[in-house]
Amino acid sequence: MKDIAIYGAGGFGRELACLLNSINKVEPTWNLVGFFDDNPDLKGQMISHFGVCLGGMDVLNAYPKELALVIPIGNSKVVKTLVGKITNRNVYYPNIIHPDVIFSDPETFRIGKGNILQTGCRFSTNISIGDFNIFNGEIALGHDDSIGNFNTFMPDVRISGAVEIGDENFFGVGSIILQTIKIGRGVRLGAGGVLMSNPADGKLYVGIPARKTEF
Ligand SMILES: CC(C)(COP(=O)(O)OP(=O)(O)OC[C@H]1O[C@@H](n2cnc3c(N)ncnc32)[C@H](O)[C@@H]1OP(=O)(O)O)[C@@H](O)C(=O)NCCC(=O)NCCS
Repeated sequence: MKDIAIYGAGGFGRELACLLNSINKVEPTWNLVGFFDDNPDLKGQMISHFGVCLGGMDVLNAYPKELALVIPIGNSKVVKTLVGKITNRNVYYPNIIHPDVIFSDPETFRIGKGNILQTGCRFSTNISIGDFNIFNGEIALGHDDSIGNFNTFMPDVRISGAVEIGDENFFGVGSIILQTIKIGRGVRLGAGGVLMSNPADGKLYVGIPARKTEF
């Protein structure tokens, strides 16, 4: 068993602990040593029944042994900032993949590091995924999709074929991206939105069809 810790002791962090348990049921793989969190009040506290919060970034950067780390935080800017602060060379970032995830074509599937693939996701053929993306369950990707880094996909997102997605985008629960759409950086698609044309960087889109919106 390899030591692993979870950065982020909220609800998604606890879901990640469940995911590790699911993996271990199929093949004993991960020994959860505990959680890290920026909230100093959590240090020494049990996080549900899963494990103790060991502290924040200072404790992580002083961790003396090889440690896998997973960062289940829905705000990709926060994830990117945290990764930038981790200087401990003992820390590495595996992909954490639920055993029931379906890869239609493993031979053409490419993936970087630090990604989370929660239960029920389906990946078609010739798909490329970068680093630190979160696929938060029941997400479908079509053929020839390309995903960059630090994107967050909430549950039930549907991505059609030949879609290109850059970095640091957010897709709300149940949203849909139609085929051949190109998405750059910092786009947010609201829950249930259907993206039917290329969005502008850094903007929020909601509705069907999804329209650029400012609140
Ligand atoms: C789009 C979103 C980011 C906007 O959040 P916000 O800035 O806090 O916006 P508000 O909730 O204040 O809503 C502002 C307005 O937009 C509307 N709106 C909000 N989200 C919308 C959506 N997804 N689709 C259509 N309209 C939406 C609201 O009804 C409101 O309209 P009003 O001013 O006429 O009353 C958010 O609603 C959203 O969809 N988040 C995704 C959440 C998610 O996926 N969670 C997954 C958890 S697992």
